[in-house]
Amino acid sequence: MPYSTIFLINERRVKKARVSSILVYKTIIMSNETKSIHEFDIQLICEYFSSLERQGPGSEEATIKALSFIDNLTDQSQILDLGCGSGGQTMVIAENAPGTIFGMDLFPLFINALNANASKRGFQNRAKGILGSMDNIPFDKESFDLIWSEGAIYNIGYKQGLTYWNQFIKKGGYVAVSEATWLTLNRPSEIEEFWNSAYPGIADIGQKTKEMLECGFTPVASFVLPERCWTENFYHPQKKAQKIFLEKYADSPTAHELVANEIKEAEYYQRYKEYYGYVFYIGKKI
Ligand SMILES: C[S@@+](CC[C@H](N)C(=O)[O-])C[C@H]1O[C@@H](n2cnc3c(N)ncnc32)[C@H](O)[C@@H]1O
Repeated sequence: MPYSTIFLINERRVKKARVSSILVYKTIIMSNETKSIHEFDIQLICEYFSSLERQGPGSEEATIKALSFIDNLTDQSQILDLGCGSGGQTMVIAENAPGTIFGMDLFPLFINALNANASKRGFQNRAKGILGSMDNIPFDKESFDLIWSEGAIYNIGYKQGLTYWNQFIKKGGYVAVSEATWLTLNRPSEIEEFWNSAYPGIADIGQKTKEMLECGFTPVASFVLPERCWTENFYHPQKKAQKIFLEKYADSPTAHELVANEIKEAEYYQRYKEYYGYVFYIGKKI
């Protein structure tokens, strides 16, 4: 499987895990004892991804399309963008919706990039990046008119995320997430094994829609992200980034492994794109 290398550091055990870049940030828990050992690797991975405009598949058009299903927003609205990365989609929301937007991510490099970008575009009073974890939201219950998350809910699991986030959304408010999804009922075993190992939570649209209902949301819309969200907007920009990154870290095995895995992941997508993709799911809190 593809596969950027990350280090899952759990208490005193350090596990080296191979995962898709789509999953590259899958919960990294650092203990104080082990932090220094792998800090460099995690820094490196964050540096690689922060050099990109997006850290996952998506597009401005897809964000705007998902926003078009949300009809409750005003200047007073509060929006939370979880796993925002460097804030590609946060800026699109700020440009196309009223209200205040908080982007939250685990990594300072991304949050700093988001805040710099918000200032550059004049959104500093409406779009703010904050450090934090999507499974420990530092706001009161029912604070938000909308919780957004592009390509990031897998970090805590789709159903777990929707269940936990539900309590922070006002009644009648919305959730909008993009999530890895099977697009066919059957698929070649190679890609099935890859995904089942990288993210066993992957399922088809019917199952994901049912889970949204079970988490207390009326499914309002779902749509498959177009292919260029993966190719033009995610894999292609990495080619230049990879060259610069490998020049800078020519002696780092982690850097070489990361890039090799990204290339392999892009090849997998090319080969198996009929079978999986990201689907945007929009739900209204009942
Ligand atoms: C695939 S990237 C998607 C980033 C961005 N939404 C985009 O589409 O460009 C997943 C993001 O989730 C963040 N992340 C991982 N675990 C997290 C957690 N527990 N809480 C908040 N953010 C997390 C990562 O740092 C990363 O920025």
